[in-house]
Formats: sequence, structure tokens, C-alpha cells
Amino acid sequence: MLIAEQLSRHYIVRQGMFKPKGLVKALDGVSFTLEPGQTLAVVGESGCGKSTLARQVTMIEKPTGGSLYLDGHNVAQANHKTLKQLRPLVQMVFQNPYASLNPRKQIGTMLAEPLLINTALSGSERREKVQEMMARVGLRSEFFARYPHMFSGGQRQRIAIARALMLDPKIVVADEPVSALDVSIQAQVLNLLMDLQEQTGVAYLFVSHNLAVVEHIAHEVMVMYLGKTVEQGSKTQIFAKPLHPYTRALLASTPKLKASDRQIRVQLQGELPSPLNPPSGCTFHKRCPYAVARCREEVPELRSFNGQWAACHRVEEIS
Ligand SMILES: Nc1ncnc2c1ncn2[C@@H]1O[C@H](COP(=O)(O)OP(=O)(O)OP(=O)(O)O)[C@@H](O)[C@H]1O
Ligand SMILES: [Mg+2]
Repeated sequence: MLIAEQLSRHYIVRQGMFKPKGLVKALDGVSFTLEPGQTLAVVGESGCGKSTLARQVTMIEKPTGGSLYLDGHNVAQANHKTLKQLRPLVQMVFQNPYASLNPRKQIGTMLAEPLLINTALSGSERREKVQEMMARVGLRSEFFARYPHMFSGGQRQRIAIARALMLDPKIVVADEPVSALDVSIQAQVLNLLMDLQEQTGVAYLFVSHNLAVVEHIAHEVMVMYLGKTVEQGSKTQIFAKPLHPYTRALLASTPKLKASDRQIRVQLQGELPSPLNPPSGCTFHKRCPYAVARCREEVPELRSFNGQWAACHRVEEIS
């Protein structure tokens, strides 16, 4: 469905009036595939490039390097017409549903909009489809004429999910879709997303900093650090046996884990370095308890360990 190969997005930024321009490698050579019916979770601290990746996959921005194949088309080389065909295949759900819903529109009208723009359905057919979708996401049909402010946060996120699914997309990119919701509501919305995936075969690119959430919903997990993938594998692999010290640190800071799972505990120290001036070698070395001279000098490649991938020189020594 989706293949990303060495996908990069670099930004040239002004650092101040008298300083030279700098380069931020927000996304730097990331590769993955997304299969129908699967969820790839992208995790990492704030600023590691998750939303930048989401913007490439939703074709809001053009990558500055690498390639992105969607339904067999290379997005970077696609012309206007092909892009227009590809866009409806990928939809987005954002963190804050209130900001993404127009406060002046009744939700029925809002949900019908994608159909109005992209299909030749009549008014009554659109209405029928909207009501069908509302039922599927657990919204009562009498909500049709209500405005966004009349809903709770969880209901609003259901509306946003319904809107994303109106055109039967192949992929939904969800950027922290439950982070703004009460913990008690989070599981309901996650379960809804999983049910909808089972019914439709939609694939999710699921961005989250919360590993408890990721453990609930993901099939595959990709851990990012300063624009690069540091570890990638199935959810089972990553949660049972994280290979990269950064993944271990993230897992250790997840409150839900049982005490017995914590013997490999690594504390995450310090802050994410400036992306304008990343550390040499392994960009994690300044915060890594296992770092040796080689880590300061040599960039680690992603290597496979029984189908699980990690970019760390010291995987063998520290496991
Ligand atoms: N348009 C832009 N111009 C310059 N730099 C940018 C731009 N967009 C993002 N960046 C930089 O790229 C890096 C990655 O940002 P991104 O928003 O993708 O991180 P994130 O992982 O989504 O973080 P968060 O968890 O806070 O949402 C950051 O250093 C950010 O400042
Ligand atoms: Mg983000």
C-alpha cells in the first residue's frame, strides 16, 4: 500500500540576523512499508520528526529526498493529476479534534463535504452515507444537525474519524489522536479505530509518544530519534526485547509496565539535542549510558536482528 524508501525532509532555517542559515534534518532517511489492515506506530520524543513524517505521507509537503510509493505511484514524481487521484487515499486525524472541526458547521454537513467534493452522489445519498458512518463510529443519528461545541472531546474525535473515513481511504495518518482525551476515553477511541480497521482493512500510521497506547493498537513499531529510525520491528519484538538503549529508555518511562519488565531499565537523561547542530556519530550518544568512543565517531547503520532492526553499535554487548 505504502512504501517509503530513505524518505527525508530537510528544512533550511534562519538562525538569526547575522548567522548563516542552518539545516534541520527533520526527517532523515526513513524506510518502512505499510500493509493493508496494519498499524505502524511511530514513537519518539517531541521534535524527533513524527509530524514531519506524517506530513510527507499525507502529501501536505514534498519530501526533499528518498521516495514514497503510494498504491504503486511514486509520489515525488507524480504530476498534478496523479496527486489529485492519490490524495483521497490518505486521510488524517489530528490530536485536537476541536481545532480541526469547523465550529460553524453542523456535523452532518461537515461529514457530507468530502462526498460533495469527490463524488457524484445526490443529496439524499450523501445524507444516507453520513448517517451510516455516524452509526459506525458510535454517534446517534439525531446528532446530525448539531455543532462541534455540543460534543465531548471523545465524541469530537469520533466525528473527526468519521470524516477521515468518508471516502474509504486506504491509509489514515493519526497524529496523537487520543493524547488530548481523558484516559478513560482513550481506550474507547482506540478500540473504535481497531474495530474500523478490522471492518475496512484501512492501514494506520499512528503517531504517539505514549507507549501504553502504542502497545494497545500497533502491529509494527518504529522508534525515531532526531529524524532517524533507531529501532523498528513488530510490536511483540519491541515490547518484549527492545534492542536500542533509546527504546529501552522510552519503555522504562512508560508507567504501565510491570515491575518485572523493568530489569533493563535505562533512565533517559538530558534533553533532545538541537536538530540544527546534532551530535557526531550516533546522535543519541550524549544521553546513552552505553556510549563508547566509537559511538561518538561513527554513525550506526540500521542492522537486522532476526527481523528486528536497530541502529546501535553495541546491541550485541548490551543485550
Ligand atoms: N517547517 C519547518 N521548518 C523548520 N523546521 C521544522 C519545520 N517543521 C518541523 N521542523 C523541525 O523539525 C523537527 C521535527 O519536528 P516535528 O514536528 O516533526 O516533531 P514531532 O516528533 O512531531 O514533535 P511533537 O511530538 O512535539 O509533535 C523539529 O526540530 C522542528 O523544529
Ligand atoms: Mg508532532
